[in-house]
Amino acid sequence: MSVIIERLAIVGVGLIGGSFALALREAGVVRTIVGVDRDPANLEQALALGVVDEIAASAAQGVRGTQMVFLSVPVCSIPGVLQEIAPALDPGCIVTDGGSVKAEIVAACQQLMPTGCHFVGGHPIAGTEHSGAAASFATLFKGKRCILTPTETTDRQALQAVSRLWQAAGAEVCSMEPGHHDRIFAEISHLPHAVAYALVHAVGTADVEGENVLSYTAGGFRDFTRIASSDPAMWRDIALMNRAALLASIDGFSASLAELRGRIDRGDGDGLAEFFTIAKQFRDGIL
Ligand SMILES: NC(=O)c1ccc[n+]([C@@H]2O[C@H](COP(=O)([O-])OP(=O)(O)OC[C@H]3O[C@@H](n4cnc5c(N)ncnc54)[C@H](O)[C@@H]3O)[C@@H](O)[C@H]2O)c1
Repeated sequence: MSVIIERLAIVGVGLIGGSFALALREAGVVRTIVGVDRDPANLEQALALGVVDEIAASAAQGVRGTQMVFLSVPVCSIPGVLQEIAPALDPGCIVTDGGSVKAEIVAACQQLMPTGCHFVGGHPIAGTEHSGAAASFATLFKGKRCILTPTETTDRQALQAVSRLWQAAGAEVCSMEPGHHDRIFAEISHLPHAVAYALVHAVGTADVEGENVLSYTAGGFRDFTRIASSDPAMWRDIALMNRAALLASIDGFSASLAELRGRIDRGDGDGLAEFFTIAKQFRDGIL
């Protein structure tokens, strides 16, 4: 593939930022990638591993002379980082992000962009429970979706440029209104993380005749709770930033759990079989 961007800055060279850098380098669509991260050891590692070509001491320094900036820091930090780099952006620069929540970020970032520069919100639907540059890999986005969240004021050429980069990284790009994105991902991503954390919290603090019950866990518990090993600070930010939608999802889940509890309490075998069959059909349908 031919070069699309001469110089790209990645602020937050962790799992997502590092994997985007590796995928773009492999595709040959970016000439130079400069990395910025508030953790100097992580940044040095990103350079040593060949994830980025250069590193910069500050975000403002790193974005100078770039045509595109990718923000891949925890969601609550994204507007603050943009505020810090805005005065240093070159005219025409495109800023995009990979944050897991969109409405608040898109509204804040559109406001913060200097005239002549363009913001495009994004969210790659790919990840693992690991963090940092050392966890990044070039194929993370291959065959996965990347959702872009343009608004009526989004520059169409900037949208196209961001879309081309994600396609080069192997992703299938689609577009969605930011609030709609947040309500969907509250259900299918933020709720499952909340439930996994709550389940491990409940079982980890359960007292069954003084036994450490976690020492008995096997495949089922471990499969179900893998995502509870994700970074707590990242999930704190997502829960706070998508609070309204996540609360609605938790209420829906609580109602479902209460329904299940009632059927167990009443000894309603037919009702339980029906409940589990409906859930199994949904689950089998997504595989
Ligand atoms: N991990 C996932 O599964 C996943 C999936 C899709 C989107 N996301 C989103 O991608 C973003 C990054 O997540 P990640 O999994 O790569 O996390 P990560 O912890 O692996 O990487 C984040 C990096 O940002 C750095 N950082 C934090 N605050 C900073 C700041 N103010 N300035 C500069 N650097 C800073 C950290 O040192 C870290 O290296 C988040 O917004 C997250 O919501 C994550």
